[in-house]
Amino acid sequence: TGLNAIAKSIGKTYFGTATDNSELSDAPYTAILDNINEFGQITPANSMKWDATEPSRGQFTFTNADAIANLAKKNGQLLRGHNCVWYSQLPSWVSNGGFNAATLTSIIQTHCSTVVGRYKGSVYSWDVVNEPFNDDGTWRTDVFYNTLGTSYVSIALQAARAADPNAKLYINDYNIEGQSAKTTAMLNLVKSLKQQGVPLDGIGLQGHFIVGELPGNLQQTLEQFTALGVEVAYTELDIRMSLPATQASLAQQQKDYQTVVTACTNVPGCVGVTIWDFTDKYSWVPNTFSGQGEACPWDQNLQKKPAYQGIVSGL
Ligand code: XIL
Repeated sequence: TGLNAIAKSIGKTYFGTATDNSELSDAPYTAILDNINEFGQITPANSMKWDATEPSRGQFTFTNADAIANLAKKNGQLLRGHNCVWYSQLPSWVSNGGFNAATLTSIIQTHCSTVVGRYKGSVYSWDVVNEPFNDDGTWRTDVFYNTLGTSYVSIALQAARAADPNAKLYINDYNIEGQSAKTTAMLNLVKSLKQQGVPLDGIGLQGHFIVGELPGNLQQTLEQFTALGVEVAYTELDIRMSLPATQASLAQQQKDYQTVVTACTNVPGCVGVTIWDFTDKYSWVPNTFSGQGEACPWDQNLQKKPAYQGIVSGL
């Protein structure tokens, strides 16, 4: 038993969770985190981001990132690197630096090759580019796009490939799980990168959902991506609700977890599911969406919720 054990038994590569350095001193928490039968993969929720790894230009700090990478190694878990290039948690020396295209290209290359290279051979997959699109399918006008246009994506992917040829390189985003303008934009980006021969192995669908409001056509969307020659994964799954939770909302959450996991189960190219931390104790949701929470399969007291059984039923 256990989510990863079941996932592997049906041919998936892993079932995983995000975690963060501040949580690792919580012994009851790590007792679950370290259990390979529950989690065969971990993702650092923050410690590999740009602000954490290169807070000033050329000054790299890997203490927290190394701790998560070492934990994965110790536990025999796969590691998802998260992330190289993202508009958020980006130090102001990058976003406000006023760099020209040649300089920003070199900054991206140095950042991606240093961070990806540090964990060469230890990472299953990297979210090389995170959240490139707006919800309407237009490009997010961050410093990367504004300076380099869409070329920043291939610059980052090529640098990552050179730094770790065995890591699977992903683009990761939210609101691309159903049929939307943003999904179409991502499908078109995959087509175009593949046509140009840019290295790209996977698309990460974050999966930050709301109880009772799952998008339709989850499986069809996964199939549209895999038909283009990339693998897919749900990389940050959580399903939040308005607080306080009720028996009804917890029951709906169980169904919704089952529905999402079933979509991955049914698509051979969906390699795994990662939840964005496993317990409500450490979920990012209440800090980000006011009045909402209880998004995870384990509660504040590290007890399994009905959602856990939903995942089991979907695998
Ligand atoms: C979140 C972390 O969980 C929080 O601790 C942090 O304060 C903000 O970022 N999409 C992503 C993740 O790709 O990196 C985000 O993680 C959640 C949304």
